[in-house]
Amino acid sequence: MCGIVGYIGKNNTKEILLDGLRELEYRGYDSAGIAVLSDGEFNNFKAVGKLVNLEEKTKDFKTEHFAVGIGHTRWATHGKPTELNAHPHLGECSYVVHNGIIENYAELKKELEAEGVNFLSQTDTEVIVHQFEKNLKTASSEFEAFETTISQLQGAYAILLVTKSKEDTIFFAKLGSPMLVGKNKDHEKYFASSDTPLIGHCDDVNYFDDGDYGYVTPDEIKIFNKNKEEKQPHFTKLPTNKLSAQKDGYRFFMEKEIYEQSNVITDTLLGRLGTDDIIFEELDPELFNGINEIKLCACGTSYHAALSASYLFERYARVKTSVEIASEFRYREPIMTKDTLFVVISQSGETADTLETLKMAKNAGLKTLTICNVDNSSMVRLSDATILTRAGVEKGVASTKAFATQVTIFWMLSLHLAKLRSTMDNGEIIKQIELIRQIPGAVKVRDEIHEKIKRLSKRYLHGHGFFFIGRDIFYPLALEGALKLKEISYLHAEGYPSGEMKHGPIALADPELFTIALLPEHMLYEKSKSNVEELSARDSTICAISPLQFEKADDFIATKNHESYMLEFFEMMVVVQLLSLEVSIRLGNDVDMPRNLAKSVTVE
Ligand code: F6R
Repeated sequence: MCGIVGYIGKNNTKEILLDGLRELEYRGYDSAGIAVLSDGEFNNFKAVGKLVNLEEKTKDFKTEHFAVGIGHTRWATHGKPTELNAHPHLGECSYVVHNGIIENYAELKKELEAEGVNFLSQTDTEVIVHQFEKNLKTASSEFEAFETTISQLQGAYAILLVTKSKEDTIFFAKLGSPMLVGKNKDHEKYFASSDTPLIGHCDDVNYFDDGDYGYVTPDEIKIFNKNKEEKQPHFTKLPTNKLSAQKDGYRFFMEKEIYEQSNVITDTLLGRLGTDDIIFEELDPELFNGINEIKLCACGTSYHAALSASYLFERYARVKTSVEIASEFRYREPIMTKDTLFVVISQSGETADTLETLKMAKNAGLKTLTICNVDNSSMVRLSDATILTRAGVEKGVASTKAFATQVTIFWMLSLHLAKLRSTMDNGEIIKQIELIRQIPGAVKVRDEIHEKIKRLSKRYLHGHGFFFIGRDIFYPLALEGALKLKEISYLHAEGYPSGEMKHGPIALADPELFTIALLPEHMLYEKSKSNVEELSARDSTICAISPLQFEKADDFIATKNHESYMLEFFEMMVVVQLLSLEVSIRLGNDVDMPRNLAKSVTVE
């Protein structure tokens, strides 16, 4: 997830671009850059780290005449967060900014390099500008060259491109990544990844549809659809409140992030799904040589994702896997052997306890892998290898989309390992990859489910406690559901394996003990159902989440009939997230900033 801005007009282009990037900085902040074309000359500035570094670099640069400019704030996907990898990317006479992933960049790059093109960065984006300039040599116009370029790209993108020979024009294209254009009475035109940067500048905005591309000048906005047919812009008025605009109309960032999960998982998958293998370009296959065991270490929600991984790694890749809570691991003098791959999982990459365990593993000479959402974080810098989860900035303190992308990575990694270790036949891997493609659909929030949860949440505002229960990989999900609820509702909730009830916890059962039962069709359904019936017989109030009707439930949330238990996992994850959200809202709590908690725990 990155942020892009563009501007055509006679006001202070530099400040307008920087202001826009400031509004989008939450989308990525490992580097930023701008390119401004004015009086036939380009000025380009880039800086690693937060936007203040770019502001410092551009402080003596003045833009007082008509200019076109583009800017970018980056959340690294391909290539480290360095100045060379920061956008805008330069060809011979053009600059480009891009949000998304060009899946076929490697093929395009190979062809361009064979023709003598010199690449400066490791990004997928740079191919766009070189491909455009290649097409420009034979095209009858800059627009034709741009149109051809877009037709050669596969993947997801929001693109802005400027070129010297058309110095009053910005070319744009959008597929799968957000972008809009705005205008005002002074013939100024603004582009951005979301509407907040445009508030106060534009009267009317047009949100691009997937497949839209075209160009904008001071006098016109030309839009074409995916069938190359010209279409009229559809202008709407902008909201006036910036904070609510950042939340895209959702009540809380947590709610927005729950709804975003389908899109961010699409980003997590981009470029990584082959036909019969999972591709992690960032991993050296050597990493797994000589490895007989995997140890996963994390805190909180990331620990729950790690627990989920242990089921997948053992089931699919048949590799011995253990999971550790970081704050425990660091003081218990653990045995660490060099045939163990040490994996840390962290949204922030800065959690002090997890970071410390990574240092311990490194000191003990173990190979290390970090699954993380923040490139250039301490864990990423320290680890031998990293897989980025690409969830984008998570603002709600209660983690949602970060967890969703972590589990997605683990499902993929388990298949990648299964392939390397030959523990699954090809047909089964192909089938699983097809299921993985369905995750974005499974996590899409359905109106009827959200409405139902809103209604039934009023029953669950008191009581002496909640049991979230599930079996197999639904046990870590039960733990995660209970953690979400307690974090933002301040009600007491625990996650248990369904089969554990009769070993003690069932003693608490009465009508004021609420059981949230995860009853997937494709994972130990009958056994889980019996456990819930035992609780029901002792008068616990039951809220069952299942695709199969369950008469004993006091409340029933019907999930879809999915082909696989993993898709059921993802849909049920959304249900427990929404349940916590709605209970917390009814209780009048600050969902995004719950008491006593911080987003990144950098102290012990
Ligand atoms: C729960 C939550 C925390 C974090 C934990 C680890 O919603 O957000 O439990 O998961 O503090 O943080 P990271 O993943 O940044 O290491």
